[in-house]
This record gives sequence, C-alpha cells and structure tokens, in this order.
Amino acid sequence: MIPGSTRAASTNTAFCRTAGACAPPGVEVVVFDDCAVLPHLNPDDDHDPLPPAVVALRTAIAAASAVLFCTPEYAGTLPGSLKNLLDWTVGGTELTGKPVAWAKVAADAHRGEGAHATLATVLGYVQAEVVVSACRHVPITREMVGADGLVADPAAREEIAQTLQALRHDRDELPAACTLGPEDGAERLRRWHALTDRAAPTARRVAHQLEVRFPPGPGVHAELEALAAAEQQCCAFLVWTVTVDSGQPVLHVTAPPDQPDDIDAIASLFGAT
Ligand SMILES: Cc1cc2nc3c(=O)[nH]c(=O)nc-3n(C[C@H](O)[C@H](O)[C@H](O)COP(=O)(O)O)c2cc1C
Repeated sequence: MIPGSTRAASTNTAFCRTAGACAPPGVEVVVFDDCAVLPHLNPDDDHDPLPPAVVALRTAIAAASAVLFCTPEYAGTLPGSLKNLLDWTVGGTELTGKPVAWAKVAADAHRGEGAHATLATVLGYVQAEVVVSACRHVPITREMVGADGLVADPAAREEIAQTLQALRHDRDELPAACTLGPEDGAERLRRWHALTDRAAPTARRVAHQLEVRFPPGPGVHAELEALAAAEQQCCAFLVWTVTVDSGQPVLHVTAPPDQPDDIDAIASLFGAT
C-alpha cells in the first residue's frame, strides 16, 4: 500500500494502515509510507549504490503481489512527493505487469479526479496492470481517524477488506479440473484477468448457471468470444455462450443441472459465489 499524503493524521494513510488491521486471511499488508524520505529524483543518481530509501521502495514493490495507491489531490494533480516516488519506479521495472489499483477516500467520489487521472497516466507509462474492479471509493473523513491512526468504523473496515479482496493475487491458481497444462493454463488465466481487470464485469450466479455482463469497450466482445470458444474446447462439460444485451457482451456458462458444483471455479473467477 502506498499512501500519497505525508500528513501525520492523513486519511489516506489511515486507509492503508487500517487495511493492515482488517486484511482478509492470507493477505499481508505492507505500507510504504516513506514518500517524504525519498530523495528528489535525479537520473544521474539512478544507479548502484542507490539511496537506501529507493532500495527500500523498489524492494517493497518487487516483493508485493499487488500495489494499492491511496492519495489525495494537490492543486489538481498528484502530491509532488508521490509523483517523485512514482518517478523513481520508472528506472526500475518493478511496477511493469504488477497488478495495481487505487482507493479514493474523499467524501465526494468526484473530488481528486485530477490526481487519479495523473496516477492512471503514470501507471500506464510504467505498464502496470490496473485492476479496474479493485479501484474503489471508500470515504474516510478526518473524524473517522482515531488517535491510533486507524479507522474503527465497521462499515469502512468492511469496504477496505473488500478492496483488498478484489486486488488479492491468489488468482493464478488453476481450477483443479483444468485440463490445460501449467503454461497454457497460466496464459489462459492471464487473458481472462486482462479482460476482467480492464472491463470490470458484473457476475450473477443462479444454481448451475452463471451470467457475466461486460461493459462495452474496444475489443471486449471479440476477446470474450475468443475466450469462450477456447473454454468450450477444453471445458466441454460446461456450455459457454456469448450474447449481446443492450450493447453489453454477456457470457453465459451453464453446468449440467445435477452438477451445479462444476461451475464453482468459473464463478469465483468472476467474483460470484
Ligand atoms: C497543498 C494542497 C493542495 C490541495 N489541492 C486540492 C485539490 O486540488 N483538490 C482537492 O479536492 N483537494 C485539495 N486539497 C485538499 C486535500 O486533498 C485534502 O485535505 C485531503 O483530505 C488530504 O488528504 P490526507 O488526509 O490524506 O492528508 C489540497 C490540500 C493541500 C494541502
């Protein structure tokens, strides 16, 4: 977790610290709150031996399976200290391909749009993988931050935990019934995640039937058709179809009515239970 505020009683840092206190089982949260300790980037200094704070930053990002940013907006864009931190990641490749997301804590979801637009630009530049479904608005007011720097509000804690759940990266596990080998299976999962991270679909499961609605977007329908056709070849015990409803590509996956459990792994891929 990387908070973008250097303020001691920061609501953004409180979000990150509270995440450590209410993380789902199996998720370890590390907060890198040394933004202010990083030296100003000078490309002449971007070589070994690197400044210790830069080593700490790059090591922490490399070790993380995902990175969540939580930043205020300053003067219509990112705080300079966070932009400086991000600039230090350009010389390393630690963020390339790394699942990332951001949480907005301002009471009004539309506040801070300049900051998040800049964050999206920089993360695109370093080719991080933005997990759209994990980018959340979780309002944290100054009054909600306790003397211990944590948020006690149960509803906020639940939303923070859900944000982590959306970003958690135990998603590389192939379903037990998958007949693809490890490499092909990993490549198939990577394609599914690339599509769902980009398009943030909504999934609904009723017994043995799963329906996943994708927002329309460039290439979404074509990739969904291609993936569904590929799954029909190897996951032939399920029926995979793609329709279009009100302009939205919709994936339907159906298990035999007497074997609804067959759809469990696919449903969990889309966050439906
Ligand atoms: C220098 C400075 C510039 C700011 N600029 C903006 C701004 O452009 N847009 C905005 O919505 N809030 C702006 N704010 C307000 C902060 O985003 C707000 O106080 C936020 O809650 C700070 O987050 P923190 O509690 O994590 O420190 C600014 C605050 C400071 C100190």
